[in-house]
Amino acid sequence: MHNSPNSTVILGAQWGDEGKGKLVDVLSEKADLVVRYHGGNNAGHTIVRDGEVFKMHLLPAGLIWNKRSVIGAGVVIDPKVLLEEIKTIEGKGVKVKGNLGIDPRAHIIMPWHPLFDAAREMKKGDKKIGTTGRGIGPAYEDKCARDGIRFEDLINPQILEAKIANLYPLKQEILEKVFLVKTLAPEKQILEDYIAYGKALSLYTTDVSEAVDEAIKADKVVVFEGAHGVLLDIGFGTYPFVTSSHALSAGVGIGVGVGPQALGKVEGVVKAYTTRVGNGPFPTELPLETVKEDMEYNLNHLKERSLHKNDDSFLGEFLRRQGFEFGTTTGRPRRTGWLDLVIIRTGNRLNYYTGLHITKLDVLGGLETIKLCTHYKIDTRKVDYIPALTEEFNQVEPQYITLNGFENLSFEQWKDVVEEGKLKGFHALPKHAYDYIKMIEKYLDIPVLSVSVGPDRSAIIWKQ
Ligand code: GDP
Ligand code: IMO
Ligand code: MG
Repeated sequence: MHNSPNSTVILGAQWGDEGKGKLVDVLSEKADLVVRYHGGNNAGHTIVRDGEVFKMHLLPAGLIWNKRSVIGAGVVIDPKVLLEEIKTIEGKGVKVKGNLGIDPRAHIIMPWHPLFDAAREMKKGDKKIGTTGRGIGPAYEDKCARDGIRFEDLINPQILEAKIANLYPLKQEILEKVFLVKTLAPEKQILEDYIAYGKALSLYTTDVSEAVDEAIKADKVVVFEGAHGVLLDIGFGTYPFVTSSHALSAGVGIGVGVGPQALGKVEGVVKAYTTRVGNGPFPTELPLETVKEDMEYNLNHLKERSLHKNDDSFLGEFLRRQGFEFGTTTGRPRRTGWLDLVIIRTGNRLNYYTGLHITKLDVLGGLETIKLCTHYKIDTRKVDYIPALTEEFNQVEPQYITLNGFENLSFEQWKDVVEEGKLKGFHALPKHAYDYIKMIEKYLDIPVLSVSVGPDRSAIIWKQ
């Protein structure tokens, strides 16, 4: 039996965009293998190095370190997007050939999938999920319906032709007759394009299950790069406002093809507040001010009002502006709210975190007070975990403690804090920022391993 002390799963502990990309990048420096295991180009992971920005959707973040980086069977791949991403990253001097591997069992996003995604959303009207529109859900549906096209089919023109010939008329009929959509490209065109994608990608074919198994047995350092977040998990997230893959640590086994003992450490990435893109419940959400002249918005005015009044309608906008909370994939403004420990506690039950990484603490700088949701109430009942019944979850009232805020530090001042943090750990943080982290640890009883105070990979303070 092997319990993989050198492998680490990095998971989003909220609704995505917690800063997983940054953490995977930081850990990749010492990794031998970096593995994406679920989701597709609905993910957007940002990595900032000395001012250079990398936005990864499908490629594992480890590539930037020139590390062996693989895409497992649980991922759904849009080959056109993948090829564009490879081109972009190669243009930045990153070596992809020889480092990237793709499992033949991974499923392919076909041109009909984004059309089904959009058509379904349209039919749902104001009940829509607010998907990224990338065809992720329909691709996973076809996988489960056993109608999917896999990477192994993409790289084999004869099989691809037969599969497309079989699926195309059916997909076209449903799109035209049920959804009244007539925009599917001609079959011949799709076949030609996808044969070309397969040709360009076939050199990356790798049995990822085998590669990970070998790495673990050789005690290599393996990082599993989670996408999305716990509450977007298809089974245990805020269904139906979720994505269609397994975003929990258990998703590693399914998405790679290794047993649970391969997981090693399970580390949750927690934004110091909460954000969500798309629809669905969000108990600690702060109302967003509707700003017409978006581009002209005067952040200083906003700060003034937030600082002095701590007025909820301004705080939501404050977090969005200070944290640049706009989606990496779709550019949509993210909804914002206070940190919700019920979510992290529930995530701990689902994942058994061995530690947490808190990100974007700097964004809270300048607030007079900070609220932290420690539990919910339903009527007079105290609720510590997300209720299994959606109807109950919709009734929860978040309960807060209010902590002192800390000063808004400049980029240079945070740099000094990070320097000091190399000796003092979290004690280098401003006192009230330190208290905030300690309060999170106290309520959750999970160790906080690092605190991030800026987008750059260097802006991180480790626990001593
Ligand atoms: P992911 O999907 O979890 O990888 O996160 P995203 O990349 O979608 O969103 C996180 C955003 O926050 C990115 O723009 C990061 O560059 C940025 N970021 C990460 N950590 C920090 C931090 O500690 N402070 C600030 N201000 N930004 C951060
Ligand atoms: P990263 O990896 C934030 C959300 C979408 C939508 C729901 C379903 O960058 O954290 P989908 O297109 O997956 O069917 O959309 O899931 N969503 C994300 N939100 N970050 C992500 O990924 C997300 N991936 C999916 O906004 O609400
Ligand atoms: Mg993201």
